[in-house]
Amino acid sequence: MDNNIERLTPAADTDDLTSGDTSGGFHEEFSCEHDDGSGHDGLYHSHSHRPEYSEQELEEERQHFRTVVAAFRYYKKHSLKKITKQQTHYEDLSKGQQSKLPLFLDQLDALRQCADVNYHFILKILEQNPFEELSEDEENNKINHPIATFHMEKVHTTLRMLMRDWSAAGAVERTQAYGLLIAAIQRYLPVTDRNMGGFRVLNPGAGLGRLSWELAKLGYASIGNEFSLYMLLASNFVLNACTEVDAFKIYPWIGHASNNTSSADKLIGITVPDVNPTDLPAGHKFGMVAGDFLEIFDREASWDAVVTCFFIDTARNIVEYVEHIWQLLRPGAFWMNLGPLLYHFADMPQECCIELSYDELKAAIQKTGFVFLEEKFDIPCSYVQNPRSMLQYEYRCVFFVCQKPSDPVITAS
Ligand SMILES: C[S@@+](CC[C@H](N)C(=O)[O-])C[C@H]1O[C@@H](n2cnc3c(N)ncnc32)[C@H](O)[C@@H]1O
Repeated sequence: MDNNIERLTPAADTDDLTSGDTSGGFHEEFSCEHDDGSGHDGLYHSHSHRPEYSEQELEEERQHFRTVVAAFRYYKKHSLKKITKQQTHYEDLSKGQQSKLPLFLDQLDALRQCADVNYHFILKILEQNPFEELSEDEENNKINHPIATFHMEKVHTTLRMLMRDWSAAGAVERTQAYGLLIAAIQRYLPVTDRNMGGFRVLNPGAGLGRLSWELAKLGYASIGNEFSLYMLLASNFVLNACTEVDAFKIYPWIGHASNNTSSADKLIGITVPDVNPTDLPAGHKFGMVAGDFLEIFDREASWDAVVTCFFIDTARNIVEYVEHIWQLLRPGAFWMNLGPLLYHFADMPQECCIELSYDELKAAIQKTGFVFLEEKFDIPCSYVQNPRSMLQYEYRCVFFVCQKPSDPVITAS
C-alpha cells in the first residue's frame, strides 16, 4: 500500500464531529490519499481546486492544527485529572461511607490504566501524522497548558467514532445506516467486472471513512471528504497504518460517568480495526480528501453519485448543500441520503442556520430539479451509542434516493 500525502486544500471554519456536536473553528489544508500502489489515480486532482488563501488564513490553519495535536496529547492528563477528582470526592466522604464503597479506588485505578492504553493509541495516531511536523518546543508548550473542554470533547468523540466505524461493536450502527446507502448505490449503479472502478462516488462528511472504504471495496471510485482534523488524523492512521485485524484495543467509554449499570461497563474495550483496511480489490480507487466540501470540489457535474450519511444537517444553509450536490452530479446521477435533521448550528447566537423541516427540505430539493426515486421514514439509527448505557438515543432517520434527470429542466442558480 502506498500513501500519497499532500498539502492540498483549505477547509471550512467548523469541524463538527458528531450529530449534535456543534461549534468549531479552524481552517485546515491537508489531504491524504490511499491507493493500491498501482499509481496515483488522480481522482482528487480532477475534482478539486485550490482557492488562494492569505498568509493570515494559513497561519490560522497552522494554529488550529497545533491545537488539535495538543488536545490529543493532553488526553492523558485530562483523563487523569477527572479520575483524581473522583478520588478527592471519595476521600472527602466519611470513613463509614468509604467503607460502603470497597471497590471504588480499584475502579479508579482500572480507569487510569485504560486512559493510559487510550493515550498510547493516540500517540500512534500522532506518530502517523501526515501533515505538519511540530517542533519539540511547540509540542511542549502546548501539552503543558490545559486545553479547552470543547477540544477535549473532540478527542473523546474521536475514540468513540472508532467504535462506530472500525470495530465489530459498531456493526449494528453501520448496518442501520451504511447498509441502506450501500444497497441503494448497488441498485442504481451496479458494479460489474467491466465497469469496475468506473463509477465515481463522493461521500462528504465521511467521518472516519468506513462508508467510503466500503464503497471502494465494492469497486466504486470512492472519495471520502472530511474537514475535521480529529477525524482526518484518526482515519489516516486506520487507513494508512493498520494492516492487521483487531491490532489495537481502546476503551471508548471510560469518560462516561453516568448511566452505567455496572462499573465494569466503563471498562469495556473494543478492538480496532475489525477489518484489514488494506484489503481492497486490485486497482481500487479510494481517497480521503481534507477540506470543506462546499469549497474544494469543482462544480463540474462529473460525479455519478453523492452519498451523504448523517451529514446534511451540518449545514448553515442546507439549501446551499442541495445546490452544491446538484452541481457536482452529472446529469442522470444519484444522491443517496440518510440521517436526521439535527441542525448543528441551530440556536447558536453567532451563527446563521436555516432550520428546515423535512417537507420544506424536500420541496427545495425538488425545486432544484431533483426527482425523488425512493423515500423511507422512521429508520431507527443509533449514533456512537454506548450499547450498555441506561440512556439510549435513537434517531428515526429519513432515507432518500433522488436523481438529477438526464435532461435537467430546472437548474440551481
Ligand atoms: C455527524 S458526522 C457523520 C460522519 C459519518 N458520515 C458517519 O455517519 O459516521 C458529520 C461529519 O461531517 C463533517 N463535516 C461537517 N461539515 C463539513 C463540510 N462542510 N465539509 C466536510 N466535512 C464536513 C464533520 O466534521 C463530521 O465528521
